[in-house]
Amino acid sequence: MQVVEAKGARIPLIGLGTWDLRGRTCARVVAEALRLGYRHIDTAEMYGNESEVGEGLRASAVKRSDVFVTTKVWPSHFSPRDLERSAKDSLAKLRLSEVDLLLLHWPNPNIPLADTLGALCKVKQAGLTRHIGVSNFTVALINEAARLSSEPLVCNQIEVHPLLDQTKVIAACRAQGMAVVAYSPIARGAVKSNKVLTRIGKEHGKTAAQVCLRFLVQQDIVVIPRTSKIERLMENFSVFDFDLSTNEMQEIAALASRDGRVVDFAYSGSPNWD
Ligand SMILES: NC(=O)c1ccc[n+]([C@@H]2O[C@H](COP(=O)([O-])OP(=O)(O)OC[C@H]3O[C@@H](n4cnc5c(N)ncnc54)[C@H](OP(=O)(O)O)[C@@H]3O)[C@@H](O)[C@H]2O)c1
Repeated sequence: MQVVEAKGARIPLIGLGTWDLRGRTCARVVAEALRLGYRHIDTAEMYGNESEVGEGLRASAVKRSDVFVTTKVWPSHFSPRDLERSAKDSLAKLRLSEVDLLLLHWPNPNIPLADTLGALCKVKQAGLTRHIGVSNFTVALINEAARLSSEPLVCNQIEVHPLLDQTKVIAACRAQGMAVVAYSPIARGAVKSNKVLTRIGKEHGKTAAQVCLRFLVQQDIVVIPRTSKIERLMENFSVFDFDLSTNEMQEIAALASRDGRVVDFAYSGSPNWD
């Protein structure tokens, strides 16, 4: 499994997204993904499925140390006491002694970032997580967080796919040495009907979704596509056996627009992403 290295973290380039996966389906898809070779699972306190993710991990029989597990703290739990409780609750549900990566799920303008980061660093120092990072942070917030955090922030998890222009926030992450983790990397399925991706896919014997994921991993952007369908797990994972040419990369990059977002920035209103 190829990894992206950032500040001591080795994050597998492909992970399984689990938002909206519930109950037995969630446990079954997680276990099957791990059997097929996935080594990175993305969950969150807010998804309400950490117990099932843990069940899937155990059912797969893959060694715990071989899997990179990410979870996230919801912004209403960003006060220091709540954050520690949230991290402990997540571990109890997952039935793990530590996660590999703990993220702040969305910015919360109502609680001082310095206090939240202080608490996040504390749970890392206490051994509840190996690494920490942020999600949905804008350019300004990335720089502020990097300045305030006493522990390295290894990534920013944000919406990234070929239909959305995220060049500025990606550049800011790179300037801070943070990995970019792309959520909704296939634009919640929208890329499958894109004509450019479909045509390029035909030339490589691949689907539009595979070309989309290849476009991202070829730039060292970690992707966490979600599927509830076992048969799509392998499709989304099989993106390391072909290369996109410079021309193809440029053609795909030209699909991006500033209003191509598929996830509402609902929690914090409409921030200035630049
Ligand atoms: N940090 C955050 O704020 C945040 C926000 C959103 C998401 N996330 C994380 O990122 C993960 C992925 O994002 P996402 O779930 O929003 O969207 P996504 O992975 O871009 O798309 C998932 C959708 O695409 C379909 N799909 C999967 N593989 C496909 C394929 N090969 N061809 C065509 N359609 C396919 C799935 O349907 P089927 O189930 O029918 O296959 C599902 O409807 C989440 O699950 C979550 O872990 C994080």
